[in-house]
Amino acid sequence: MTRQITLKSRPIGLPQFSNFETREVLLPELAKGLVRLVPHTLSVDPYMRGRMNDGPSYVAQFNVGDPIAGGGIALITESRAAGLVAGSFVQGFIPWQEEIVMDAAGLNIVDETIAPLDYYLGILGMPGLTAYFGLLEIGKLKKDETIVISGAAGAVGIVVGQLAKIQGCHVVGIAGSDSKVDYLLNELNFDKAINYKTTKDLNAALAEACPSGVDVYFDNVGGEISDTILSQINKFARIIICGQIALYNATSLPTGPRIQGTLLKKSALMQGFIVSNYAERYPEGLNALAQLVVSGHLKYTNTIYHGFDKLPEAFIALFEGKNLGKLVVKL
Ligand SMILES: NC(=O)c1ccc[n+]([C@@H]2O[C@H](COP(=O)([O-])OP(=O)(O)OC[C@H]3O[C@@H](n4cnc5c(N)ncnc54)[C@H](OP(=O)(O)O)[C@@H]3O)[C@@H](O)[C@H]2O)c1
Repeated sequence: MTRQITLKSRPIGLPQFSNFETREVLLPELAKGLVRLVPHTLSVDPYMRGRMNDGPSYVAQFNVGDPIAGGGIALITESRAAGLVAGSFVQGFIPWQEEIVMDAAGLNIVDETIAPLDYYLGILGMPGLTAYFGLLEIGKLKKDETIVISGAAGAVGIVVGQLAKIQGCHVVGIAGSDSKVDYLLNELNFDKAINYKTTKDLNAALAEACPSGVDVYFDNVGGEISDTILSQINKFARIIICGQIALYNATSLPTGPRIQGTLLKKSALMQGFIVSNYAERYPEGLNALAQLVVSGHLKYTNTIYHGFDKLPEAFIALFEGKNLGKLVVKL
């Protein structure tokens, strides 16, 4: 028997503890092709909120009663799968369970000697790749351009800002606390950072932070923050629609400014993307990011919750801005 955390009911608005349920389940026999795993670190990510809703999205919905699942690192304790031996750590798509017997397909060995294990859920994992491909393929940043990043102190945002600094850009971050602003300015050397929760006039603060206007906007949040930034874009601006976390808990879709006129006048490009669009190029992205990490050009930070039972709390914390960098749960 082992414990698992399931989706008990679909959240309406901000997820609540009552939307989750912990229960005991029987593990299956270790048949051929399966591995037995003990999770080491599990990732909580904003996109998982969309999977809790009813209706189609770009990732399949969680069924009510099924375990929540997401990115994770686990130790193989027993294996009947070719190429995977007990004692190795693997990364993959893992259910929220204290022990797992699952198909080995889709699990990849991670090397602790290259980077600490939880890097593979952050800067050397899905969020790092999101920053890398969004910036490279849609942002097409040029030296001396101004980039604004919302959700700048999160898992994706901290990588975007550092990559833009490496390219010689004027980097402006928007984040939700003074300590996050302080981190962006003093640890990651952003040129400007704004606390959107305490700034009285975001429009004025942004204009001051971006004296040459906004060439690239990396949008992690959407909503009113994005409305303000989009009102200050330059001609030929590129807007990277990465995430819309400000809307993930909305129970009805708010109407914002109609942006098409601005895009037309500014000859601007706005493009959404999903990191898995670039799945075939993950080795290229990981290699580039790993080199920058190893050479000390990319810093990494995370917020760690400890213990299996903390998974729902950690997930909800994403929507309360409690994390700096990548939020993970260590078991
Ligand atoms: N397109 C893709 O393939 C892809 C891949 C990965 C992630 N994403 C998206 O990228 C975004 C960032 O993901 P992440 O993993 O790096 O998460 P994250 O930034 O580490 O964590 C979420 C952060 O969002 C901010 N936030 C929460 N509610 C907000 C609101 N109502 N308004 C403004 N900010 C809010 C909070 O920071 P503050 O304290 O600053 O408010 C919070 O810490 C998310 O929208 C996610 O869905 C997209």
